[in-house]
Amino acid sequence: MPSVPRPEQATEQSTEQATGQATEQPTEHPTRVRPDDLHAFMTATLRAEGVPDADAQLLSDTLVVAELWGHASHGALRLPWYIERLRSGAMRTVTDVATVTDSGAVVVLDGRDGIGQVITNHAVDLGVERAKAHGVSAIGVRNSGHFGTAAYFTRRAADAGCVAFLATNASAAMAAWGGRTKSIGTNPWSIAAPAGRHGVVVMDLANTAVARGKLYLAKERGTSIPDGWAADAQGHPTTDPAAGIEGLILPMAGPKGYVIAFLMDVLAGVLTGSSFGADVGGPYEPGRRSGAGHLLLTVDVAVMGDPREFSARMETLVDRTRGGEPAGWASEILTPGELEDRNRARHEREGILLAAHTWASLATLAEQTGTTLPPAAQGADTDSTY
Ligand SMILES: NC(=O)c1ccc[n+]([C@@H]2O[C@H](COP(=O)([O-])OP(=O)(O)OC[C@H]3O[C@@H](n4cnc5c(N)ncnc54)[C@H](O)[C@@H]3O)[C@@H](O)[C@H]2O)c1
Repeated sequence: MPSVPRPEQATEQSTEQATGQATEQPTEHPTRVRPDDLHAFMTATLRAEGVPDADAQLLSDTLVVAELWGHASHGALRLPWYIERLRSGAMRTVTDVATVTDSGAVVVLDGRDGIGQVITNHAVDLGVERAKAHGVSAIGVRNSGHFGTAAYFTRRAADAGCVAFLATNASAAMAAWGGRTKSIGTNPWSIAAPAGRHGVVVMDLANTAVARGKLYLAKERGTSIPDGWAADAQGHPTTDPAAGIEGLILPMAGPKGYVIAFLMDVLAGVLTGSSFGADVGGPYEPGRRSGAGHLLLTVDVAVMGDPREFSARMETLVDRTRGGEPAGWASEILTPGELEDRNRARHEREGILLAAHTWASLATLAEQTGTTLPPAAQGADTDSTY
């Protein structure tokens, strides 16, 4: 089967800021699609590769939701990467999670090289169920894979009335502070909590200046990257996403980003019995099994006190924070997760913009699998998150 074009093959240079805004005009026009059409296309493509319907629906939903949130680095551009991994056998099409140990509030699962999103979704169902039964739960996951955005899963637990923490390890992207060898992943983590009439508050971040996916996205869009994101293989600062991917992604907040990433690897990889450090394979490597591990900690809000009181306290915190005086450089103050909620509402109305290279990759997949590309939707070919 012919291979799908990968972002490494893009030739233009590119740029994206931490807000997700491009600082240069990409050279080719993006295509706008409706979220439902994109979901249907992705699901059909995954089913054609042998992924069971429910799992194909879920994986597609995680990718579309990432696009809706404005995290295109974790959206449609990843479908060809996941499919290459399914084709190589590095990731199994049929996910079959095994239980390693079960002591009630604490469970260790083995994802057996299945689809990371499907495995993690299963962990969330179990984590919420056990937190409701015991007040708290800890679900360790080993031999999983890249699960996309962590907040997709912590938000689900928060919607069920729990506060949740989820960490994963990831393939090596940064050096230990003071080192020059790629040895530690971006190792993102998310915490989400229900917030009464405000829905959910959630943080979700990689411990690097940005997720490495944003460098791949910059390549895909044909723009350069801001200073401070990456260093090339010689350790020199670079604005070339390709050089940054070959070199090192820089930690967020200097040594603090490094030590947090290290400890997330302890929680997600070492503690759970999964791979850790440079032994974790990445989604960008078609033939290498992942071995990524995750740790999900869930607290049922009701175990600490009256959930109505918790909601009222959360609403007060959110209201006070949003009502603060903006700094001179800002027009308003957002609470954690609000940016993604706003982006989602807008993208649901206006549709999602896909980079020209991403669209070409999807067209190749459509040809290979006999599926039909989503129709192009009307709308401008610019967007504040593009
Ligand atoms: N599965 C993996 O291996 C993996 C690896 C790396 C990253 N990721 C995912 O990539 C995604 C992006 O990560 P990132 O580190 O680039 O995130 P980011 O830098 O875009 O955002 C970090 C956090 O800051 C918040 N934020 C940003 N601007 C804000 C503002 N103006 N006001 C209030 N809050 C604001 C965001 O909501 C988010 O919680 C995450 O979903 C992460 O889980 C996954």
